[in-house]
Amino acid sequence: MAHTAARVALVTCRPGPEIAVDRDLPSLLGELRAAGAEADVVHWDDADADWAAYDLAVIRSTWDYSWRAAEFTAWAERCGTATRLANPADVVRWNADKRYLGDLAASGVPVVPTRYIASGDPVGLPRDHEYVVKPTSGAGARFAARYLPGEHATAVRQLARMHAEGFTAMVQPYAKGIDATGERALQFFGGRFLHASRKGAVLAPGTPYDERKVAHPRLEPWTPAPDELAVAERALAAVPGVPELLYARVDLVDDADGRPCVMELELIEPNLFLTLHPASVQTVAAAILMAAR
Ligand SMILES: Nc1ncnc2c1ncn2[C@@H]1O[C@H](COP(=O)(O)OP(=O)(O)OP(=O)(O)O)[C@@H](O)[C@H]1O
Ligand SMILES: [Mg+2]
Repeated sequence: MAHTAARVALVTCRPGPEIAVDRDLPSLLGELRAAGAEADVVHWDDADADWAAYDLAVIRSTWDYSWRAAEFTAWAERCGTATRLANPADVVRWNADKRYLGDLAASGVPVVPTRYIASGDPVGLPRDHEYVVKPTSGAGARFAARYLPGEHATAVRQLARMHAEGFTAMVQPYAKGIDATGERALQFFGGRFLHASRKGAVLAPGTPYDERKVAHPRLEPWTPAPDELAVAERALAAVPGVPELLYARVDLVDDADGRPCVMELELIEPNLFLTLHPASVQTVAAAILMAAR
């Protein structure tokens, strides 16, 4: 008999002390199976995984990738030749390095102003405003901290540690708006707006850069304003090559004038926050099945 059920891999990572549990996975897996698909949860670095056996591999929660970025992007290339990978490997490669914010800015998308400090670059930290230092390859606010101009010595130690671990640093003004209006995550799936959430500020003053942060404080459902949707859509339209994206999350904060700007465009492994938006599970599963056809 011909094989008609869609075969889908939901790609995650091994649990670990620095890795949150993906609470979206059980409901998504259940929904796909209820719809008749053969769905498996697979670790991206499982050497025995047979990617070619799937119609589609959907990257879901590979939340260890940012400190194994080269290994992960090489895996994405391999997986993307064995089967259809969502999002595609070239999108993964571009989005794995937050220097993509520069590409968005060059296309006229409002983004948090960012300067990059690679190992060996002159340091030159801001002298007249509070600022954030974080890696160009990061997740869960790992290695992120905020500093006052008087705290340069600590910031310089953070830079040295990050460079020693192979990271490039980025420096941004601390976006004060986040303390009042939070950070809004607009999620897209199957080419359409799915749902949005808002969370509070993550970086408390004085929190050491190597301390584990609460990644999604006070998370709540959010109805995006028209200007937020417009900025998110402009960001998606500015992705080089305008690739087909199965999923996307655009994180926005307000700039000094109260206008939304992009803090992060997450095209690799966005947490979908499905437990906060249970009605979205069906939409997500349907879009995955459509992409697997
Ligand atoms: N310039 C900034 N101004 C204010 N807060 C910031 C700034 N940059 C980062 N943060 C805070 O740190 C958090 C983590 O930063 P960011 O999202 O850039 O990194 P990340 O490690 O990819 O995080 P995650 O994977 O949790 O989204 C943000 O959600 C925000 O609360
Ligand atoms: Mg973020």
